Amino acid sequence: MNRKQISKFEATQLHHNRCIVNVASIPQLSPFRYPGGKTWLVPEIRKWLSGKKTRPSELIEPFAGGGIISLTVANERLADHVTMIELDPDVAAVWHTIFSDNSEWLAETILGFKLTVENVQATLALKTKSVQEHAFQTILRNRTNHGGILAPGSGVLKHGENGKGISSRWYPNTLAKRIRELFSLRDRITFIEGDGVIYLEKTLCCRDVAYFIDPPYTAPGKRAGRRLYRYSEIDHDNLFSLCRRATGDFMMTYDDSESVRHMATQHGFLVDSVPMKNTHHKEMLELLIFRDFSRQEYLAKSEHQAA
Ligand SMILES: C[S@@+](CC[C@H](N)C(=O)[O-])C[C@H]1O[C@@H](n2cnc3c(N)ncnc32)[C@H](O)[C@@H]1O
Repeated sequence: MNRKQISKFEATQLHHNRCIVNVASIPQLSPFRYPGGKTWLVPEIRKWLSGKKTRPSELIEPFAGGGIISLTVANERLADHVTMIELDPDVAAVWHTIFSDNSEWLAETILGFKLTVENVQATLALKTKSVQEHAFQTILRNRTNHGGILAPGSGVLKHGENGKGISSRWYPNTLAKRIRELFSLRDRITFIEGDGVIYLEKTLCCRDVAYFIDPPYTAPGKRAGRRLYRYSEIDHDNLFSLCRRATGDFMMTYDDSESVRHMATQHGFLVDSVPMKNTHHKEMLELLIFRDFSRQEYLAKSEHQAA
């Protein structure tokens, strides 16, 4: 076995003995606290992209949400360019504004806002006239709603977290700093408001791209996505078929369920599971799904050696 094979073999062993990632050790770049956010997956994404022979020309995230993976890839230059796609107009308003000349307005407005229950209610009731106002309203709602949920029907924090009421997740200085830092990354990131599945279809022939795919959880038997996101209806089987046809590489992440494992097997993909803690600090397993031939090869080799 040469050096490269040894390190791949070790990596395989690590997959079976993974520890739960301490999210406090990961640089937080996003202004959102996003339901289903993937901060805990950052180490795995670093390993995946930095392990490639050549750096991908583009990292595409068709379901960007709070965007921690895209932002980390751009910040750490793990791909030449990053494209984030998101369908929800509220979330999109934030990304449009952060990567535009109105970014500083957003940072200043957050810094100048006096957070009281009355001010929050009045601001959230306003009919916004511009994209940047819409962005501010979204961040305010995201930071004062239960669990950061933006879907219709979600409620405002009453007692807050840590007994701090509505302000328990409102950190104006941190938010302004993140927005300014993200603005400085704008040349490395393209944000598209639209349907990520359509973008995936359009780029099927692109060879040296990598997709990070984290769709809403509405696979059979998994209904959480409906409560968490305004847009949650996805044809998962079609998504898997598109991934199979894509020339570029991909990593998908899903809740661990029999139905998802079954779909992955049907499409001939590899499945791996990673332990994580959900927002209620409950330990769970999340599935990673790939079609990476080199990975397949080294898994086969390590199984052969273990036999
Ligand atoms: C599981 S969340 C992504 C979370 C993200 N990875 C993060 O770390 O914050 C799925 C996202 O997909 C968005 N979405 C749903 N359908 C979509 C579609 N057809 N195209 C683009 N985005 C979509 C939802 O609004 C939601 O933000």
